Amino acid sequence: MAFDITGGLRWHGRAFMRRKTLWQPTRLAIADWLAQTSPASKHLLLIGGSAGWMMSSDWLQRFQRIDLYDLDPLAGLLFRLNHGRALRLAGTKLYFHRRDAIQDLEILLSQHPSASIFFDNVLGQLRFRIEDDEQAEQSLEKFYRRLHKRDWGSIHDLYSGPVNQEVMSAQQSMLFQGLQTGQGLSLEGLQGAAAQSTLLRAVSASGNWMDHFTSVVFPTELPLHFISWQFSSNYCHWLQAGWVSTSALKK
Ligand SMILES: C[S@@+](CC[C@H](N)C(=O)[O-])C[C@H]1O[C@@H](n2cnc3c(N)ncnc32)[C@H](O)[C@@H]1O
Repeated sequence: MAFDITGGLRWHGRAFMRRKTLWQPTRLAIADWLAQTSPASKHLLLIGGSAGWMMSSDWLQRFQRIDLYDLDPLAGLLFRLNHGRALRLAGTKLYFHRRDAIQDLEILLSQHPSASIFFDNVLGQLRFRIEDDEQAEQSLEKFYRRLHKRDWGSIHDLYSGPVNQEVMSAQQSMLFQGLQTGQGLSLEGLQGAAAQSTLLRAVSASGNWMDHFTSVVFPTELPLHFISWQFSSNYCHWLQAGWVSTSALKK
């Protein structure tokens, strides 16, 4: 089934085992980044939230209502196991919907015209669901246009690939701040391929790395955070995180 590609039992098993070990530094780095965001609404549409293995309970507590959308039928139950207590303490209401929220995005946006939206590590997996690379790239190209005038954020895979096990196993999550420009990635005064190499060198990349086609998801010039995620002992992801706030759009 579709949700097995990027979610399902295999994902939950891995996440359960690694959440407090290998994935912990990235989980904490994501929580730090989320703490710096300022969602405009107290109502959140959380897309691809799964069981919230990498999500921050503190951040969720900011909302009065959360609508969680995921293809995985286990997501609602497991999300409550991970975050239910914190949500109850904060009086946050959680509603789970098993739904293809990328396909039905426009419907959801019109049903909830004032809600903030967060794509929780889902957009980078689109290339696995849409098997044709060109089509996957096209569906992510200027994704922000589908969210015109909305308050929204996303964290997603930018690149992933093999790393030198011995070097990476001793490291914590790595962080960079930068942006995507008309000339590609911009990071520490470097542009395009040179900026990309900085990310790959930082995690001791080796072999062939995958581009998840998400460099074009956000509007150019939006300040972005890049967070490394050591997925397994010899495989790493670079996550790209950003928030498009309505206050910034009004300027
Ligand atoms: C990598 S997991 C996300 C993990 C999650 N953010 C966490 O912290 O545990 C990607 C999730 O997105 C879901 N997903 C993929 N495509 C989707 C879609 N079109 N609509 C809703 N959910 C989707 C998958 O079922 C999976 O649970």
